[in-house]
Amino acid sequence: MLDILRKRRSIRHYTGQAISPEVMEQLREAVLRAPSSRSLDPWEFVFVTDKALLAQLATAKPHGAHFLRDAALGVVVLGDEAKADTWIEDCAIASIILQLACESLGLGSCWVQIRLRAFDQSVSAEERVRQILNIPPHLRVESVISIGYPAKSPRGHARENLKDHKIRTDTYA
Ligand SMILES: Cc1cc2nc3c(=O)[nH]c(=O)nc-3n(C[C@H](O)[C@H](O)[C@H](O)COP(=O)(O)O)c2cc1C
Repeated sequence: MLDILRKRRSIRHYTGQAISPEVMEQLREAVLRAPSSRSLDPWEFVFVTDKALLAQLATAKPHGAHFLRDAALGVVVLGDEAKADTWIEDCAIASIILQLACESLGLGSCWVQIRLRAFDQSVSAEERVRQILNIPPHLRVESVISIGYPAKSPRGHARENLKDHKIRTDTYA
């Protein structure tokens, strides 16, 4: 796991290679293994491979989503806030578990934040994603994880650049 964390970067450029059904199945298994508070599993996922839908998702907000157009897969992470008050945490954990599983399988990925973002002045990015994918109104949209084989592989962050001052021992001051 530490090796995966040392290599992990957000990947926004993809080769265009498709993801095989076997690898897709491993991604499905990984995300369903995400832990959730009280095992309430308030999340649901939409695995999007259709190019026209990915191109629409790429415009769900003006910045930071455009690369979904070139992704082999976008996983839309949905949460039912009526099922668990921890739905945001549960969806975030599922999102990062999926990203780490991608890294372990040689895939690159990038989180696309949807919750609290805007499509335009009157429509939220959440609402726009709901419209594009016919998602029912009771489900919130946390993120879309953009996934594909990396066309660029930036180096992992160097150990000396990590923010050691963020960790204190025993007491804060
Ligand atoms: C909660 C969260 C939301 C993010 N939203 C976006 C996003 O909308 N678009 C994007 O391009 N990157 C997004 N990122 C990726 C971050 O920009 C990236 O992780 C950060 O710059 C560090 O770079 P690295 O992942 O390569 O280490 C998000 C990451 C997190 C954890």
